[in-house]
Amino acid sequence: MIITAVHPDITAISTFHTIPAVGVLTINSFVLDAQQQMIIDTGTTSDRGRMGAAIAEQVDPDRLRWLWVTHTDADHIGGVHDLLAAYPAITVVTTYTGWIKLSTHAPVNPKRIRLIQPGGTLDLGDRVITAITPPLFDAPETIGFFDPVSKALFSSDCFGAILPDGATSLDQLDDAAVLDAQTLWTSIDTPWVTKIDRRLLAEELDALSQLGPTSILSGHLPATAGIVDQQLDGIRAARDRSPFAGLSHEQLVEMLER
Ligand SMILES: [Fe+2]
Ligand SMILES: [Fe+2]
Repeated sequence: MIITAVHPDITAISTFHTIPAVGVLTINSFVLDAQQQMIIDTGTTSDRGRMGAAIAEQVDPDRLRWLWVTHTDADHIGGVHDLLAAYPAITVVTTYTGWIKLSTHAPVNPKRIRLIQPGGTLDLGDRVITAITPPLFDAPETIGFFDPVSKALFSSDCFGAILPDGATSLDQLDDAAVLDAQTLWTSIDTPWVTKIDRRLLAEELDALSQLGPTSILSGHLPATAGIVDQQLDGIRAARDRSPFAGLSHEQLVEMLER
């Protein structure tokens, strides 16, 4: 686990999950230190204990009000119910579909849900954040947001990367390796990117650029700032990468026999 101050107001809590024969996936939770603090995503079920302990060190229970759930994949909601129990004042922010899907994991009191839609806003006391749909996503409920104070855009799964074994930072890779890591992740998470009309994808990326983010914080990228152009290039390049197929069964058997 690595804890990174991405911005004076933002802490990333990163765990790393090995994907056999592929590489290492970063799984992030973030704490946004607004006047009303907010946690963004909660990591996996298996890591929820240590993720919860790390989150506890970053938050002020008197100011913690919100838990933003970008989508309900297992690598984002592992700690949601523990956190709801630990912090009775927090409210989950998600879309309607997100709430319904979260409730299939375990019921959530609707009084602890704040529904939001793309373009909707949430007042954190010292700033008003705006919900966005990332250019690419792997679940229909996916919702990110832009923070006008830090100028960080929280992008959920989009803009992630699969790192080579042993790497925990983009600084350990050259530009070509970063691009490969980005396009590999994108081809795994959103294999349909190859089907998107290039003009439509360009429009999505332009709309995101016009928000003026100085960092794009993915749930699956070692926390870093100031590489927005490189991140946008990674999505464009993923459009032309073959969809990820993974191991065949024969390759799995061969791997297990080694
Ligand atoms: Fe996902
Ligand atoms: Fe994810």
